[in-house]
Amino acid sequence: MSHFPKPPEGSWTEHYGIDTAPMSYEDSISPEHHELEREAIFARSWLNVGRVEQLRNKERRYTQDIAVADTTVLVVEEVDGGISAFRSPKDGESGTGPRPVQVDVWEGFVFVNLDDSNTASLRESLGRFASGLEGYPFGEMTQVFKYRSDVGSNWKLYIDAFAEFYHAPVLHAKQYVSDESRKLMSYGFEALYYDLDGPHGMVSSWGGMAPPKDPMMVKPIERILRSGNFGPWDKPDVAGLADLPPGLNPADHPAWGLDSYVFFPNFMLVVWEPGWFLTYHYWPTAYNRHTFEGTLYMAPPRNATDRLRQEIAAVTFKEFALQDSNTLEATQKMLETRVVSHFPLCDQEILLRHLHTSAQKAVDAYRETHAPANHSAG
Ligand SMILES: [Fe+2]
Repeated sequence: MSHFPKPPEGSWTEHYGIDTAPMSYEDSISPEHHELEREAIFARSWLNVGRVEQLRNKERRYTQDIAVADTTVLVVEEVDGGISAFRSPKDGESGTGPRPVQVDVWEGFVFVNLDDSNTASLRESLGRFASGLEGYPFGEMTQVFKYRSDVGSNWKLYIDAFAEFYHAPVLHAKQYVSDESRKLMSYGFEALYYDLDGPHGMVSSWGGMAPPKDPMMVKPIERILRSGNFGPWDKPDVAGLADLPPGLNPADHPAWGLDSYVFFPNFMLVVWEPGWFLTYHYWPTAYNRHTFEGTLYMAPPRNATDRLRQEIAAVTFKEFALQDSNTLEATQKMLETRVVSHFPLCDQEILLRHLHTSAQKAVDAYRETHAPANHSAG
């Protein structure tokens, strides 16, 4: 029996008319396919390269490596306040100077597009989810905690691991006190809502842990600090948090906890009910490797207690992320054996199928317009 209402069709899969056939993971283990993704996806899509607050330094500039496109992007704030971006020349390009690239900003998030001929605007590309988030006080969350790691898996596999939540009660069981953990495991996980828009996807989840109904549900350190995985229990005093933008909590559920967005191709945004947000970036470095960046954004702490509350949230996040990423290199190795090539995906994995399908569509579209010249030996 489901805990939360499902769409009238009976499942999210049917609601969105999603294919139910077992899905091939060849797209995550093929070096040739990765080469196509580099051109079809990363050389052509709007890519998030951080936030405007990163320009708050003496030089008013910062850089972001984009190894998958053989380049480094330099973001610069001009004297008039405008933002420009440049990329380093690629192998084989003449000259050594930086080349201007398309840049645009949405709600303080800086995006570049490495395709000079791109005509799709950033807003158009980000779609409905971005419009629904406009007005959230992203710019007030200037206390930043950042993790970066080199992961031995295809970039899509880590997004898969974060795009379904039903693993949480089992995989993260040790994060809760044992009574609570048993309860969560028997209850299982169900999302409040899923939504798809173009190549993007989102899942909305219940919360209820900040603060928990019963303080004995959580560990002593969380009780003492009033903070944990869902962030500090007391909302920061930030204008804009009381009246959330219409896109958040799409199920309009009183127990709403967080909304997690996959902005295609490699940018995730997680907005938490207690008043903070996370971003994830997955930068491919090979078909079976990528650099993962996880960044927490919180309101500036007013005192040492606030700061400690944020620290416990940040280290708890790291523990969760280590548990989430622990299986990735094994998954990659298992897939590469090709002993099993196709996998069934369940109703709670629609965002996984949507990501791989969207990536495949981009590759197919690229192939159609960039068919290699066929010099068949006759
Ligand atoms: Fe997880």
